[in-house]
Amino acid sequence: MIESTPGRVLVTGGLGYIGSHTCVSLQQAGFEVVVLDSLANSTEAVLDRIAEVSGRAPRLVRGDVRRPGDVDRALSHGPFACVVHFAGLKAVADSVRDPLGYYDVNVAGSMVLLRRMRMAGVRRIVFSSSATVYGEPDTVPIPETHACRPQSPYGRSKHAVEQILADLHAADPCWSIAVLRYFNPAGAHFSGLLGEAPTGVPNNLMPYLSQVAAGVRERLQVFGDDYPTHDGTGVRDYVHVVDLAEAHVCAVRMCLERAGIETLNIGTGTGYSVLDVIGAYEAACGHPIARVTAPRRPGDVASYFADPTRALARMRWRARRSLADMCRDAARFEERRQAPVAAPAEPVAVGG
Ligand code: NAD
Ligand code: WQD
Repeated sequence: MIESTPGRVLVTGGLGYIGSHTCVSLQQAGFEVVVLDSLANSTEAVLDRIAEVSGRAPRLVRGDVRRPGDVDRALSHGPFACVVHFAGLKAVADSVRDPLGYYDVNVAGSMVLLRRMRMAGVRRIVFSSSATVYGEPDTVPIPETHACRPQSPYGRSKHAVEQILADLHAADPCWSIAVLRYFNPAGAHFSGLLGEAPTGVPNNLMPYLSQVAAGVRERLQVFGDDYPTHDGTGVRDYVHVVDLAEAHVCAVRMCLERAGIETLNIGTGTGYSVLDVIGAYEAACGHPIARVTAPRRPGDVASYFADPTRALARMRWRARRSLADMCRDAARFEERRQAPVAAPAEPVAVGG
């Protein structure tokens, strides 16, 4: 048994891209971490990297959030102050092909987790939602009060869990719930040891760009250059994954401070175009990146970025890292994946 402390957090999906960075940030903030992960989209090797970065490996319970017995096994390593729930499937196009699979993991999995948490007397949860719940925005920046019109089974699965959580809190106000709507997570840990390592062809801009820059793929397709944006390419709110991880530490603390339900955008509030991101990445890696203009990608919108003021007001979080930081760290992670080298020491942050 791990020694009992009030600061123990169960992280589902804790070996994934955002989860692994959050394990590091939680441990650095003094929390003890237990991970429940099925390894559906990660490997056990991530535990060693978390240990290398933060000096400690979390306990891993290998299991599936859809299985009550697996969740109970993880909860038996409590008492837990809070659960951070990342475990889920996240590819929009896959969700269109396999809606039942997506609702099963994202909705049914969340239901099992919530029931077993209630049985175990754990009533604090931070939930990974997505800005995709807004659908095509009427206005940018997008505030949390904006209507939700999710356009894919993936988006609808996230919105369904948001509604379940709202109903749960209405029925029992003892629950303490933070729903975090991430915009576009990007970048990697400064060390280059943790980052996004998609299997197969990456769906998202930053991992694709990293692979082109590293010579793994020939060129980037820029999906559309005729949007009504400053250079014609799609504008998004890219948020550094370590800023995102720190948002979870703030959210856990907020849940510990008070019961209630808060829904918060997690973004920088600044939109960058595809060409802006390519330019920043070229500056980071020091060479040009081959690209070609391609037709618009179906389902894409012109411009999408957060109004992040509520996260600052409610839990004193705001993004601190720049697009240049995201590109530098993503490039370092990709370089290390191709040819592992010693990790640099992270500079101490000043001000901010
Ligand atoms: P990821 O795929 O890297 O991590 C998910 C982790 O959950 C993986 O380690 C995987 O093995 C695990 N997992 C999957 N199904 C499971 C199951 N049934 N039981 C237990 N573990 C399971 O994804 P990520 O990018 O780290 O995303 C984490 C969460 O954030 C997801 O819920 C995703 O929908 C949400 N999100 C991600 C993004 C993004 O662009 N990355 C944006 C918004 C929201
Ligand atoms: C960003 C921009 C593309 C790839 C997705 C999900 C969303 C959320 C975050 C989970 C767009 C352009 C991309 C490429 C390109 N995930 N692009 N060439 O679509 O904003 O959001 O990830 O919750 O739900 O939909 O992110 O990185 O795919 O695209 O030109 O090869 O880059 O058209 O303008 P997106 P993205």
